[in-house]
Amino acid sequence: MKILCLSDLHRVIADVLALKEQNHWIASLLSKYSPDAVLITGDIFESDLGVNPYEELHKLFRGIPVICTLGNHEFVYMTVDSVLKNYKDQYKPEKYNVHYLDIIGHYDIDTVRFFGNVLWYDGTMRTIQNQVLADFADGRWLDRTIVDFNPAKECGKCIEQILKNQPEDWQTGILCTHCVPAVEMNGHFREGLRQPFDAFSGVTWLLKKVKCDYAISGHTHRRIIGKMIDGVKCINVGNDYCPPFQHYLLEI
Ligand SMILES: [Fe+2]
Repeated sequence: MKILCLSDLHRVIADVLALKEQNHWIASLLSKYSPDAVLITGDIFESDLGVNPYEELHKLFRGIPVICTLGNHEFVYMTVDSVLKNYKDQYKPEKYNVHYLDIIGHYDIDTVRFFGNVLWYDGTMRTIQNQVLADFADGRWLDRTIVDFNPAKECGKCIEQILKNQPEDWQTGILCTHCVPAVEMNGHFREGLRQPFDAFSGVTWLLKKVKCDYAISGHTHRRIIGKMIDGVKCINVGNDYCPPFQHYLLEI
């Protein structure tokens, strides 16, 4: 199975030129690889996108199964619950071949199980001692705009969902998260360097708890390919806001 892994597309519908460039890149990847599935680990759209994300992705990827997670950008200026409700209400698998794991928990293709969600962060990734998550780096971190947002509480809910949806023994498990499930997938982390934004990268310990073969993430815009962490092969696609766009083809 060929799985085209993408992340952090940051599609701003109003920015026609940027979209055109990205659409062209995606079309060239589909022609080059003919993937069996596409995985996108969050920050696909901004929260005020004004389009149906399922319809957009179905068209963009020509009906190939698209498995996604939400990212923190999908939540800005909204409550977490209202965003989840919007995506749940719009989910129409019979019409659009697009599946958000945050909504359905897992999605199976043959013997491969995709499971995961946005994940969020619980403070374990902080490199500044006693940094308080709710300060959102003195208001400099975007997620301060998420309404009534308690990161550690929402992170706990995500972890609960992940643990419930782990693969069976006969399945190949792909843990798909926007924020990262291990320190080594952050890409910004440097021993001894204290950076306020590290705290908002993810959690340090999830791969020790979860049964999976692969872990795919995004969010930090730092590329990490094939690193083995706690027996799990890890990929952070590392796409950024502007070209050169990054992707990874996972072949199982
Ligand atoms: Fe993000």
